[in-house]
Amino acid sequence: MCGIVGYTGSQEAIQVVLDGLRRLEYRGYDSAGVAVLSEGPLRVAKKAGKLSNLEKEVVAAADGFTGTTGIGHTRWATHGGPTDRNAHPHMSADGRVAVIHNGIIENFAKLRASLESSGIEFTSDTDTECVAHLLALELTAAGGDLAEAMRLVCRRLEGAFTLLAVDTGTPGKVVGARRNSPLVVGRGQGENFLASDVSAFIAHTRDAIELGQDQVVLITADSIEITDFLGVPAQGRDFHVDWDLSAAEKGGHDWFMLKEIGEQPHAVDATLLGRVGEHGEILLDEVRLTDQDLRDVDKIFIIACGTAYHAGLVAKYAIEHWTRIPCEVELASEFRYRDPVLDRSTLVIAVSQSGETMDTLMALRHAKEQKARVLAICNTNGSTIPRESDAVLYTHGGPEIAVASTKAFLTQLAACFLVGLHLAQVRGVKYADEVGAVVDQLRAMPAAIAQVLSTMDDVRALARSLAHQKTFIFLGRHVGYPVALEGALKLKELAYVHAEGFAAGEMKHGPIAVIEEGTPVVCVVPSPAGRGVLHDKIVSNIQEVRARGAYTIVIAEEGDEAVVPYANHLIRVPRTPTLLAPFVTTVPLQVLAAEIADALGHDVDQPRNLAKSVTVE
Ligand code: G6P
Repeated sequence: MCGIVGYTGSQEAIQVVLDGLRRLEYRGYDSAGVAVLSEGPLRVAKKAGKLSNLEKEVVAAADGFTGTTGIGHTRWATHGGPTDRNAHPHMSADGRVAVIHNGIIENFAKLRASLESSGIEFTSDTDTECVAHLLALELTAAGGDLAEAMRLVCRRLEGAFTLLAVDTGTPGKVVGARRNSPLVVGRGQGENFLASDVSAFIAHTRDAIELGQDQVVLITADSIEITDFLGVPAQGRDFHVDWDLSAAEKGGHDWFMLKEIGEQPHAVDATLLGRVGEHGEILLDEVRLTDQDLRDVDKIFIIACGTAYHAGLVAKYAIEHWTRIPCEVELASEFRYRDPVLDRSTLVIAVSQSGETMDTLMALRHAKEQKARVLAICNTNGSTIPRESDAVLYTHGGPEIAVASTKAFLTQLAACFLVGLHLAQVRGVKYADEVGAVVDQLRAMPAAIAQVLSTMDDVRALARSLAHQKTFIFLGRHVGYPVALEGALKLKELAYVHAEGFAAGEMKHGPIAVIEEGTPVVCVVPSPAGRGVLHDKIVSNIQEVRARGAYTIVIAEEGDEAVVPYANHLIRVPRTPTLLAPFVTTVPLQVLAAEIADALGHDVDQPRNLAKSVTVE
């Protein structure tokens, strides 16, 4: 979602800010803007579209954007369309203050009406512009004290926001504030940074402070002052970033997504690393729950969005099988609105790569209000979802930059499985040696994924030959069903074509009517060794669609000869225990989608209309 950068120090702010915005591009955006405090009036530029539009505007400016303090923003439109005038920064009517914002100010209509009734004219359709006008007014009330003015404004705002502002009357300073939306401070030498996440300033410093809820921060080149919204001195959480710039760059690939697909063996390995203690017990990262709490669990909900939701759907099979606790998987955006039955003995597992997805966060908060225990599975240390949970298991997958999630999915699977094993063990349903046997199977997955990756040339060629197709169907059964959903989601996200995933057995109840001569149908086949009946059933389903003209692309394990007569195209994956098969069967589907998108000339990393971190409901 929106990306935010602020800088003050001795470098030219415009360079630092534009560079930071470039690194935040992965969050998804549809316009961008900057403001630089120069000697004279505030220099502001903002443009709809890609950052390159903004850069052209900045370069074309006759006097340049000279100054060592500035802010920048990439906007993903919520209030008001993605136009130049709605792009951030927004300025106060007197031109003194520039503000950028991520989130939604829920009482904006009321604030706007009251500002308009006092004669202020708005120049955009955004909720953010209110903040610029309010800040200018409060600056007068606060005697020109920028941090105090920001605190006064924040006390009047409802909703979710990260705000940064500069003021021509306060040179060399940037003020920031946050509620329900992330903000980190980068601590430099004679310079300081503010950003939505560390990737914006990682080229300059790895020492960071995560701002707490309802805090205001004022940075100068040499100081960082944090308070709460009432002005009481406060502290953020210091942390050191343990990945470097190269981890956030493409590593020689055309697209971040391809790099991230290739990183999956390592990412899964890293997620499993160090998870088993001396006595065979699974180790979580942060546990504010007792074993007794876990023994008392009588129901599990997995809540998540998008790809993380699909990981949850796979995990359900393993968790119920291993723990014998009923487990439901629910879209986070639906969860709290249907009034789910939750109590102290319910465990809610919130799965989120970013840890900032607002739908998941709100579902988590609802669960906590009902006294349920919450365990987060997350890739982003210090983000909101793990911070608000009772226990956390981090997926150590490294930064995921491409909007379409890939390595997060496989690491979320690994983490969910570890949680299932942990629960089974704590509750005495599985012994340490049984847990150990599954952990060993999990540890074999990185090599199996690497093996799949080494055979993807064939899938790339297939993808190019199918790039003109307008409809794709994905079929699976058991854990292959969520894999089919994920394959279809990847293709929709990246190639902008109609793609749907179905439980293979459900085809005959309606969807099979859409099959025409040549419709590509991707079939995810379970191992004949693990679940023979299941395997035979899907072979029948493949025959059913083929008989109606489908072009079948069959993903089946090595040695499965029964599928050969029914496959127009066969993709082989290594033999894998049934529950773990998604680690290998998902990979060709990721490659297929990325390659089709590339063949169609789409931006693989930043598909249209999508955002990496969706911080609005
Ligand atoms: C967005 C992204 C998806 C992602 C989903 C959940 O929609 O585009 O790729 O799966 O959010 O994100 P999370 O960070 O909570 O896993």
